[in-house]
Amino acid sequence: MLRAGWREGRRADGTPFGFTCPAPRRYPHQWYWDSCFHAIVWRHFDPGRAREELRTLVRAMSPEGLVPHTIFWAGRARWRRAPFYATASPLGSFATAHTQTPMLALAWELVAGGDHEFEREGIAPLARHYDWLARDRDPDGDGLVAILLPDESGLDDSPKYDPVYGRFSHYRPGYFRLVERHRRRAFSAHAMADRFDHHLEDVVFNVVYALSLRALHRMSGEARFLGRAERAEAALMDCCWDEGRGLFFDLAGRSERRIQVSTWSSLAPLALPALPERVRRRVVEEHLLDRRRYAAPVGIPSVSMEEPSFRAGFDRFRCWRGPSWVNTSWLLVPSLLELGYEEDAARIVRSLVHTLEREGFREYYNPLTGRGYGARDFGWSTLVVDL
Ligand code: GLC
Repeated sequence: MLRAGWREGRRADGTPFGFTCPAPRRYPHQWYWDSCFHAIVWRHFDPGRAREELRTLVRAMSPEGLVPHTIFWAGRARWRRAPFYATASPLGSFATAHTQTPMLALAWELVAGGDHEFEREGIAPLARHYDWLARDRDPDGDGLVAILLPDESGLDDSPKYDPVYGRFSHYRPGYFRLVERHRRRAFSAHAMADRFDHHLEDVVFNVVYALSLRALHRMSGEARFLGRAERAEAALMDCCWDEGRGLFFDLAGRSERRIQVSTWSSLAPLALPALPERVRRRVVEEHLLDRRRYAAPVGIPSVSMEEPSFRAGFDRFRCWRGPSWVNTSWLLVPSLLELGYEEDAARIVRSLVHTLEREGFREYYNPLTGRGYGARDFGWSTLVVDL
């Protein structure tokens, strides 16, 4: 299936590319975090393609260090689609001007698999990307990086964004106005955060940021990356952790308002071994393994089943509002194992394997019934193989 989604060639300006499209019919372009997930799976079958997919992301990086959310290798987004993407020009560009959850260093280290030459090749471009995040995306300097648009986390329509974006939400027409506002300010986080409150220090985005910084530190030996990882982890504990509820919440706008909606993002810091074990166990025992909240028959639901916004079924216009996605389990299950919850880890993986055998590689699944929804032949659902 991944082979069928592989696209390679040269862009009009001669730049070579090779990547897997997330789903040939529905998602024909390259997406940042999807490519990282694909590479993590490719490394088991075709390490050459794993490396090429990550190198292609590096080729799309801007001189400043932004890795685009979506890259249109085969041609600019056509006029009919262009308005739907957060590009610098409404008439279409080669890539969007916003980014996505910064998985690149994490994936690079896994794909290198201890090959120092490939690691060394990555250090300069990865440093450029993570230095850009620290410089451009932390306008208040607290060590947590901010997202400007809800889809930058990859969790586009998550109900946790409703109270922040309102009529500018990803699934509302106002999203286009928000993109226009960014265009006028050249997508500068500093300029936006000076005037508006539609930016967030998103938990899952920062968890992946910290994991990636640690990977980059291991590959490069450079102390600044470890320092930034530790700062982000400390800030997640100090600012996002809610001791009463036992969850991590995003911080919105200049006042850093806590968004108290329980989504899988609130559990994501479980993946950070540096966090206190007491905290990680609370997340597991009070939430992940609670049958009223996240212990569903299939996978890990994207929203707590207890939230009023939770919907197990399909919504044509909105995603991430309940169904289980495979990347969620990929990020959280290894920590369950590490903390000794072997039975539960095995139960979750088994539920996904059975469901995927029956339903195929769909984009996401009903956590109660296992019914598959969204795109067919969806690339990152193959992460089940890595799990
Ligand atoms: C959807 C998902 C996003 C993903 C993209 C391509 O928009 O919400 O996370 O990157 O599809 O698969």
